[in-house]
Amino acid sequence: MPISLGRALTLRRSWYGRPITGLKNQDLADFLGWTAGFQTSFTHREEEAPHSYAPSAGNLPSLSCYLALTRATEDSLSIGPGLFRYLKAEHALVDLHRPDVQKQLQDGLVQAEFASYPALVIVVADMAATMRKYSARHYRTLHIDSGIMAQTQYLVTTALGLGGCCITGFSDLSLHRLLGLPSGSFPSHIFSLGRPEPAPPSGASGFSEATEFAE
Ligand SMILES: Cc1cc2nc3c(=O)[nH]c(=O)nc-3n(C[C@H](O)[C@H](O)[C@H](O)COP(=O)(O)O)c2cc1C
Repeated sequence: MPISLGRALTLRRSWYGRPITGLKNQDLADFLGWTAGFQTSFTHREEEAPHSYAPSAGNLPSLSCYLALTRATEDSLSIGPGLFRYLKAEHALVDLHRPDVQKQLQDGLVQAEFASYPALVIVVADMAATMRKYSARHYRTLHIDSGIMAQTQYLVTTALGLGGCCITGFSDLSLHRLLGLPSGSFPSHIFSLGRPEPAPPSGASGFSEATEFAE
């Protein structure tokens, strides 16, 4: 991503504009890879799990991402509309077969207009992942992990020339049901995503497109 950190920090904004154009598969691969994927070329210590671009307390897998596509991507081999789970190790999407996802989101969001954005990434925190290593007070680190993820999402969005906004106004119960979450997991925030027009200044991307979408 040939854009300086200073430029990304300066250009970063919450985006509330109407998305004129949708997203391509490559946009989603870039966004998910840079924000929620594993680093591909660097591990801190050989014996440790791979590191992510966004750090988490203890390098634990405290957060996972679901992708809600309210419309099909703009590719000949398009995906969506539907709900997908992002597998970070495989850099792939699992189709959860929910083409009705937009209606569910409209009902679950305080600002229902966000459900008209091409994509919403729902970030889910998993208490059990943290409690396996740390005591109960470390539930707080889930929220810190989530905040770090949100800023990473903002900066990556800016660098890719996309637009997005962090969202925390939603019904926990509604999203819990939509995603079929186990107790102990909760949606921490949502990040809307689209391509603003006219396009903002951007950098290019560097992630390879996810070629496999596991069923
Ligand atoms: C944790 C967090 C939660 C947010 N939740 C919402 C939300 O539910 N609805 C909304 O319209 N904006 C939401 N925002 C966007 C903020 O209102 C926005 O970041 C703030 O007004 C500053 O604007 P800027 O991001 O353009 O600098 C949220 C931002 C953060 C960081």
